[in-house]
Amino acid sequence: MFKVSEIGGILVSIMYEFTHQAEIRSLSDEAISAAAKALMKGLLVAFPTETVYGLGADAFNGAALARIFEVKERPRFDPLIVHIAGIDALERVADLAALDQAAREHVDALIQRLWPGPLTLILPKQPSIPDLATAGLPTVAVRFPDHPAAQQLIRRSSGAIAAPSANRFGCLSPTRAEHVQEQLGDRIAMILDGGRTGIGVESTVLDLSSCRPRILRPGGTSRECIEAVIGAVHTESLQLSDPCSPGQLKSHYAPRTVLTLHHREEMIVLPYGESEGYLFFDGKSRDAWYRASKPGDAPWIRTLSETGNMTEAAANFFDLLHELDKSGCSAIRGEQAPEEGLGSAINDRLSRAAAAK
Ligand code: TXA
Ligand code: MG
Repeated sequence: MFKVSEIGGILVSIMYEFTHQAEIRSLSDEAISAAAKALMKGLLVAFPTETVYGLGADAFNGAALARIFEVKERPRFDPLIVHIAGIDALERVADLAALDQAAREHVDALIQRLWPGPLTLILPKQPSIPDLATAGLPTVAVRFPDHPAAQQLIRRSSGAIAAPSANRFGCLSPTRAEHVQEQLGDRIAMILDGGRTGIGVESTVLDLSSCRPRILRPGGTSRECIEAVIGAVHTESLQLSDPCSPGQLKSHYAPRTVLTLHHREEMIVLPYGESEGYLFFDGKSRDAWYRASKPGDAPWIRTLSETGNMTEAAANFFDLLHELDKSGCSAIRGEQAPEEGLGSAINDRLSRAAAAK
């Protein structure tokens, strides 16, 4: 759930990031500490890893995560990689106890042999990781980058930084600080300049959350290298009939409760259905609906953002949808967000959730 303490963070980030050009700082002890401080304030910082530059946000701060999507102009909420700086930090973000014995052994062997390095593992997630980081999936992507500055930055901030590649949506991944500056320089707080990245392609993404290890994205760690540690891995795409991975096919959050979408004009005049849940975009449309429908003490009314703040709405989206889904209501009515900025990412997820059966 979106925390009141994060509202300050949103305001600081929006004011700061939209009134400044990103500060570019060469790697130094002071620069890394300043970047870590910025992250802890909810600001976004681009930093070098051994693969490509990442656009980092504190992985535990929902509002900062929402800013990542806004800044990248991603039309939907793709799950992000959570970066840690030590094997001991893994259990803070991933729930290893939820794995079966074989998967657990694979994780142990891979992290001993191939971490730090360009290998991202998909594992069951800990509840402390906001749904926005994982796009509502029950799994989290975790990576321990092999770059001293990235490791220091992670250690000096919250210990977990969510970071996609630091490019705008649809553009090439950045391998130099200048690439980041060209694409995102006017919208983030700081760029740590570590020169050209060594590997230049993104990490390999390996799914260990289902019973057969599977490469979801080839990258900086070769298949052979992984197979030398854990034996054969799959690379073919998932089949609907795969008994090992029910539910893994949908890369989106599918509520169990039927969700119907409505434009604002439609939503505010819906007759109240007693057993139904309602997800409003802002307080204005919720209040208009209350005046028109007089629902009394309706229990399942949720609002993405009281003031219609898009960042706040995005940060709350998965949490509130989960909440309604678990509430026991018979159906969910969801209001579409205005189709601007993060609104299209919210609408993309809403329509996928509505389409899912
Ligand atoms: O090298 C890298 O991996 C870089 C640096 C910055 O670490 N990061 C990066 O992030 O490439 P991004 O967001 O561009 O790519 C993340 C990939 C996507 O393909 C996404 O679908 C996948 O990881 N991913 C993340 N979480 C996942 C999950 N829970 N299940 C399946 N795939 C996931
Ligand atoms: Mg990318």
